[in-house]
Amino acid sequence: MSTTSTPVAHDTQWRTVRFEVLEKLESLPSLNSVVLEFLELSQREYFTAKDFEAVISKDQALVARLLKQANSGLYGRSRSIKSIPEAVVLIGLESLKKIVFAVSTEGLTRRTLKNYAYHEGQGFWMHSLGVAQTSRVLAEMSPACQLRSEEIYVAGLLHDIGQLIIDDFLPPGDGKHVSRRKEIEAVGLDHTELAEHILRQWNLPESITACVRYHHDYEQAGEWAPAAAVLCLAEGVCGHWGLGRKNPIDLSDDIPVEKFQNILDHIGLPAEKWDQVIWDIRQNLVGLDGTFREYAD
Ligand SMILES: [Fe+2]
Ligand SMILES: [Fe+2]
Repeated sequence: MSTTSTPVAHDTQWRTVRFEVLEKLESLPSLNSVVLEFLELSQREYFTAKDFEAVISKDQALVARLLKQANSGLYGRSRSIKSIPEAVVLIGLESLKKIVFAVSTEGLTRRTLKNYAYHEGQGFWMHSLGVAQTSRVLAEMSPACQLRSEEIYVAGLLHDIGQLIIDDFLPPGDGKHVSRRKEIEAVGLDHTELAEHILRQWNLPESITACVRYHHDYEQAGEWAPAAAVLCLAEGVCGHWGLGRKNPIDLSDDIPVEKFQNILDHIGLPAEKWDQVIWDIRQNLVGLDGTFREYAD
């Protein structure tokens, strides 16, 4: 997949931005380099457990977290997993890939945002994980989405990262959704514009950056519009169920296909497949509360 720059993702109109926001941007921790290395590795046609281990083993703290997660009750293993190759065999590379991305970004996403309408049980983190999981399911079913499942998963994890910066500048939350207009009033930019800046700072591929930048305006994403539409739909589906706002998770409410018909057309997903899509998404989200408990130290 091409990672060259496109004009669309350079059109952020920097309004008058507060000096403290720029300072906060500077002081944001850098993204774990494993994420970039791992994204590159995933582009290869052949990708073995050994390649995986070579990247992961550079970060022993990450290895320890991965093994802790692999040994958690989530995977129902009767014997303990002591090494990465063992974990790959028992859990599977696909699941481990997701854990690598989630664990490597948790320093950024597993935070409490006080002024957005997330629940106190680290709703922001649950929302980020939920949108990542949902985007991945949608991308795999969308013939138009150009991002690989790893890329869209990372885009999902980081899609609202701009809110981390804005949170400190908002008036006290009243439990209501914070609009992008309110964000601009508070700091001069909305969370997608700030996210674009942050992701560029971290050298993430253009595909991911553009997708995150336009996850609320996918039609403006140029060549990346279908992928941005996937992320937008994931945001819409998770928003419908209040993922990250309601605790515990409740996925019981049906989502009528008409609600998202336009986006479905954009990503090439026929309406007849909607029930199947929602079933797959529910299957992927149903363990999220458990994931959260298992992660808790
Ligand atoms: Fe958003
Ligand atoms: Fe979101």
